[in-house]
Amino acid sequence: MAVTSEAILQVCSAGASISHMRLCPNKSNFLVLTNHGLGYRNKKGSGCTQIKSSKQKSCNMISASHCRSNVNDRFRSLSCKCSQIDSVTDTISEKRDPLLKGELSTNGNGTFSSTLQIGGINSVEDEAWELLRASMVYYCGHPVGTIAANDPSDSSILNYDQVFIRDFIPSGIAFLLKGEYDIVRNFILHTLQLQSWEKTMDCHSPGQGLMPASFKVRTVPLDGDDSATEDILDPDFGEAAIGRVAPVDSGLWWIILLRAYGKCTGDLSVQERVDVQTGIKMILKLCLADGFDMFPTLLVTDGSCMIDRRMGIHGHPLEIQALFYSALLSAREMLTREDASADLMTALNNRLVALSFHVREYYWIDMRKLNEIYRYKTEEYSYDAVNKFNIYPDQIPPWLVEWMTNKGGYMIGNLQPAHMDFRFFSLGNLWSIVSSLATNDQSHAILDLYEAKWEDLVGDMPLKICYPALEGQEWRIITGSDPKNTPWSYHNGGSWPTLLWQLTVASIKMNRPEIAENAVKVAERRISKDKWPEYYDTKRARFIGKQARLFQTWSIAGYVVAKQLLANPDAAKILVNVEDSELVNAFSCMISANPRRKRSRKGINQSFII
Ligand code: GLC
Repeated sequence: MAVTSEAILQVCSAGASISHMRLCPNKSNFLVLTNHGLGYRNKKGSGCTQIKSSKQKSCNMISASHCRSNVNDRFRSLSCKCSQIDSVTDTISEKRDPLLKGELSTNGNGTFSSTLQIGGINSVEDEAWELLRASMVYYCGHPVGTIAANDPSDSSILNYDQVFIRDFIPSGIAFLLKGEYDIVRNFILHTLQLQSWEKTMDCHSPGQGLMPASFKVRTVPLDGDDSATEDILDPDFGEAAIGRVAPVDSGLWWIILLRAYGKCTGDLSVQERVDVQTGIKMILKLCLADGFDMFPTLLVTDGSCMIDRRMGIHGHPLEIQALFYSALLSAREMLTREDASADLMTALNNRLVALSFHVREYYWIDMRKLNEIYRYKTEEYSYDAVNKFNIYPDQIPPWLVEWMTNKGGYMIGNLQPAHMDFRFFSLGNLWSIVSSLATNDQSHAILDLYEAKWEDLVGDMPLKICYPALEGQEWRIITGSDPKNTPWSYHNGGSWPTLLWQLTVASIKMNRPEIAENAVKVAERRISKDKWPEYYDTKRARFIGKQARLFQTWSIAGYVVAKQLLANPDAAKILVNVEDSELVNAFSCMISANPRRKRSRKGINQSFII
């Protein structure tokens, strides 16, 4: 039988210790000054070489499957010896879906480009599927992800030829819902291997559980053998990314996808694997580590999530909190008895309660709350201050006074001492609904806002990433005069079709699928004609984004998932976290203990340490 990528992973992971394996342990580091800055470099050849037990059919692996440190190309990368790529193509062509009418050809970097036969495509959805398949990336003959963008007309690809963890989530969901599980399983297991990579930036190593922002499959000639090549998995943890941003969301998305995989396939053997359980715990360890922070929300730098460059979202951005909450709930569900120590479970529960209380209470605004903030007293020194964060009412921006509707409300973008970021961020709000971080009423109110502010939040193309844009002096100071994030472009009030899938999950969860249906209709008017752009510009999303990539995979996959879920709303369950009754109880205890909301509640005897 062919050696699957799982087998390779298992072999490479042999010797994993309790504190998780170090793949390719780095015993002989030495300090070097390179183009990348200061770093530790392995001596060539250090690492683990593992012998494969049988021949790999599609990849024609040579005698040894082999994971090792590679010093030719950046510091380290995961490699697997393969022979000619042609045999991989053959296997892929054989496996192609009959839907796929185009021709596949390899372009030499692990991906396949396709020639569309437009005549054979009968719907936007079929075209999207064809493009999605064409974006698949292979490692040793096995699909492991999808490339970020597949735009043949683009000469400056930057890192859009890589598999981004966050970008792959809608692709992964699309494949799961289609019953094609391999690519998701491979993605989960290969990115897990990258998690324990040695990573440094100028001598500093981030926490061990960090997941990469992206990785690339490189096919390179095999040392000392001209007739063979090897595939290399080359991760980027932010050490090469523009702005050197650490992808905090990657690990959280990884946990969410892992849960969706188990729920969709019914195959729990992946999440129960020792290395996968350890991977979950490593992410949790990183997120639950004690720091100086007073808040239960995760403290991160600017650009740590989908908005991966300076946009004034450092601190406690909503998107990270919603993903964090969802990942904590999902991890709690997946940790096996043996792996979940009582301490870990207590830490998880305590954080969940504190986090939901904090966000529901302090991030939420609607007309009533806005009026309350407008009348806040400041400089209150006491344990029972009403204005805990010392928010000056003058911070309420003039646009919001006009914009806030009587019906509806939303979670603000960020909360810090004396600072509320009143901007509306779509992903954070939608994922608060999906994860039940928002209450039932709050979730409906967010969707009410979408309906009331359709022109602003959907316009000519769903969905506005945030509203409104930063302009003038504010743009200069907060973005650092970023020419890519000019007002109503890109992250600064641009519109991102990929967000369609999160809107769909949220509106299905709240039993209001017509909201997503209407948004999908808007997208369908032009998304295919416009060649599936990454984002749109202007206040109403009328133009294709100035620097937007075309054939952006997560725009394609986001649309596909929205269609799949609208056709089969039940499937949204694989992503939704239902409200936990224990948490609700504990939450009520906190509400009644909160001096602002003194309410007497009897009969609640459960105690949670906050
Ligand atoms: C941009 C987006 C980021 C995405 C990447 C690849 O940098 O801001 O969220 O992951 O492109 O598509």
